[in-house]
Amino acid sequence: MFLFTLCQVGAETTFKTEIRRLFPEFRLSFSRPGFLTFKVPDDLTLDNIADFANRSIFARMAALSLGKINLEKAETLNSLADKIWAITEANRIFVNRVHVFRRDPLVPGERGFEPGLTPELQALHRILIEHVPKQKFLGIHHTNPNYPAQPNETILNVVETDTDCYFVGIHAILEGLPIQFCYPGGVLPITIPDDAVSRAWLKFEEGLCWSGFPILQGDYCLDIGAAPGGSSQVLLSRGAKVLGVDPAAIEPSVLNHPHFTHIRSRISQTKRSLYRNIRWIIADINVAPNYTLNVLEELATRKDIPLCGMLFTLKLFHWSLVEHLPTYINRLQHWGFADIRVKQLVFNRQELMVAVQH
Ligand SMILES: C[S@@+](CC[C@H](N)C(=O)[O-])C[C@H]1O[C@@H](n2cnc3c(N)ncnc32)[C@H](O)[C@@H]1O
Repeated sequence: MFLFTLCQVGAETTFKTEIRRLFPEFRLSFSRPGFLTFKVPDDLTLDNIADFANRSIFARMAALSLGKINLEKAETLNSLADKIWAITEANRIFVNRVHVFRRDPLVPGERGFEPGLTPELQALHRILIEHVPKQKFLGIHHTNPNYPAQPNETILNVVETDTDCYFVGIHAILEGLPIQFCYPGGVLPITIPDDAVSRAWLKFEEGLCWSGFPILQGDYCLDIGAAPGGSSQVLLSRGAKVLGVDPAAIEPSVLNHPHFTHIRSRISQTKRSLYRNIRWIIADINVAPNYTLNVLEELATRKDIPLCGMLFTLKLFHWSLVEHLPTYINRLQHWGFADIRVKQLVFNRQELMVAVQH
């Protein structure tokens, strides 16, 4: 029995260390940049995958492997589709949806690359659906490759790991699974809009979807490290009122928004009375994790702020900073947050996203 999983390119060593610690019974098997397989105990079930998904910070998705297919030179995608369905039938597996994706070729944001469905993957998805043995195998809206998987569905995962090399596996949408597992390869279908002023728009849009924070129209939000303004745009698009703190300049399109106020300063040099109405804090400052936490602790432990939650990045200037995560999480627990989640999201680079809520 094998499990395959995806992570960010470059995070593999840290990810393997995490798995050795969390699941010592797993044995690393085949791996490629951004794609790892593990030999797992024979009694591992789809429920265990949900547990894996929730405990791992670096796993973007995970599936029980059904096998690997290498296409011969002259073979077509039609023949690939037939082989994939033959594997599924041989295993007597009933699936409701098909996810087609590839391992990342680069780090997100590098040379313009961003994870997501390519036209080639969409074409393969279409061919797979055309070749499905019996329509009754599939669920609703199954022809849309990015339609979110529904609770209790079983998903057939087809991942292209190299040219003409594919792994096939399954996972199920069980309660409590992170939202990413509803989308191919764990990538939420988010594309950066033309008017986004920074790439940070992507990671905070993903971060807010992942956190599920119920930010309401008119909620006051504090954006620490707001410049040039991508994260504030995400908040403004949800109808929030944003106080952006940053010594650097904010792009005019954000600065002139009627619900945006810029405090042009370092957070430590601002007046605390400014934050009396703040319900949500977003922070993305390019400093070491302990400094980010020092800044947030000051605000999170005050009794006069009606704070609901915080979403922030911890910059991993060195991967070895991950070793200090238990200490960071311990600090967050002491501030009284009931729900603490940490994940390397798809659009994060060498950093982690943290969501904490009361
Ligand atoms: C990665 S950028 C933030 C990107 C921004 N959130 C966006 O969405 O466009 C980091 C920012 O943190 C700011 N920064 C660093 N230390 C800070 C501090 N102590 N207080 C406020 N801002 C700080 C920097 O000036 C820089 O603009």
